[in-house]
Amino acid sequence: MLQLKNIGILSTYNSETGSFDSLKNCTIDIENGIVIDIGKNDNKGEHTIDCNQKLVTPGFVDAHTHPVFKNGREKEFTQRISGKSYEEISANGGGINSSIIGVREINETELLDIVINRMDEFLILGTTTIEAKTGYGLDTESELKSLRVLDQVHNNHKIDIFPTFLGAHSVPDEFNGDANAYVDLLCNEMIPAVSEQGIAKFCDVFCEVGYFDLLQSSKVLKTAIKYNLVPRIHTDEFSNIGGSKLASEVKAISADHLMEISDEDINFLSNSDTIAILLPGTTFFLGKEKYAPARKLIDRGVHIAVASDFNPGSCHIKSMPFIIGLSCIYLGLSIEEALKAATWSGACAINEQERIGSIEVGKQADLIIWDLDTIEQIPYNLTSTPIRNVIKAGEPLISLD
Ligand code: NIG
Ligand code: FE
Repeated sequence: MLQLKNIGILSTYNSETGSFDSLKNCTIDIENGIVIDIGKNDNKGEHTIDCNQKLVTPGFVDAHTHPVFKNGREKEFTQRISGKSYEEISANGGGINSSIIGVREINETELLDIVINRMDEFLILGTTTIEAKTGYGLDTESELKSLRVLDQVHNNHKIDIFPTFLGAHSVPDEFNGDANAYVDLLCNEMIPAVSEQGIAKFCDVFCEVGYFDLLQSSKVLKTAIKYNLVPRIHTDEFSNIGGSKLASEVKAISADHLMEISDEDINFLSNSDTIAILLPGTTFFLGKEKYAPARKLIDRGVHIAVASDFNPGSCHIKSMPFIIGLSCIYLGLSIEEALKAATWSGACAINEQERIGSIEVGKQADLIIWDLDTIEQIPYNLTSTPIRNVIKAGEPLISLD
């Protein structure tokens, strides 16, 4: 058994009370990767970690990432700071399609190494579970390869990965803009092959002007459902074309981005179980001013999560502590709301809340021991991330001996 002793403050969402609680001066007993007791009993267990009166929180559950790509697109960053928009850059040979060649040409082992390095960084920053999308291969073979890579990382790395098939990320160049023809390929060949492969749990679509319209998005998600993939959607990022209504109709597990969501579409989400995943890092990284209307969504009863949206183009940010800071500064969340959104709600957004996302007896011991005293110090430190240790399924990232 492992005991974390001398914890100053344990801050976590509590699924029994439905509140974000802070418990002072406590211990956590862990056996076989599971939290078996939270109490005040000192000096139990074969191994102990002295938390020196510091803060302990759950590990972050980052429910929206795009980590399977080869090269960064820092040239686009340079173009943006000299005045070009994301949409303009995409229309001129940049954007998602410019990442395709790298994923199609790279061999699986090299891609695996690249993704593993990215996961090392996520883990050091306290992210113990991520949802990870494909979407830079965009042909059957390269998408299946991307999913195999995610599966191998999941099995060989401490971080847990929940894979999403995002074949409907963009229309690849060989289709010359014929989105309907690509949607046919997605529905008739790619989704069945992904389902048969058995790695992806979710299917996502970029429902946006210039990518997939409402009808095409609906076709993709309805086909995915037939093949037992859980639907989720990127929508209302640059314009409102009704993707949030579609999300509620197909009972999508999440609708993500939502900077441009309309009041009417907020109603559809509030009458559904769809979780709104807000990605303030993307708005920030693109230098935009209009953040998702988080307060309005919360006030209307929509369950919100926050995530990184780590990808090579619109948001090259892995740090959930930084995302929490942005959520407080730009989305208007309280620190408790932001922490809940980055842990518990992230777990709900991948349907793993029974197992992870909070520190409670019976749940997996995925947690962060901070070099901080209070949760306020997490966004206050914004970029320095003083983490002393990350525990994944009861195993410390920084070994004790
Ligand atoms: O979530 N919106 C679509 N996909 C990404 C951008 C991906 C890219 O630019 O490579 C996003 O912002
Ligand atoms: Fe995204």
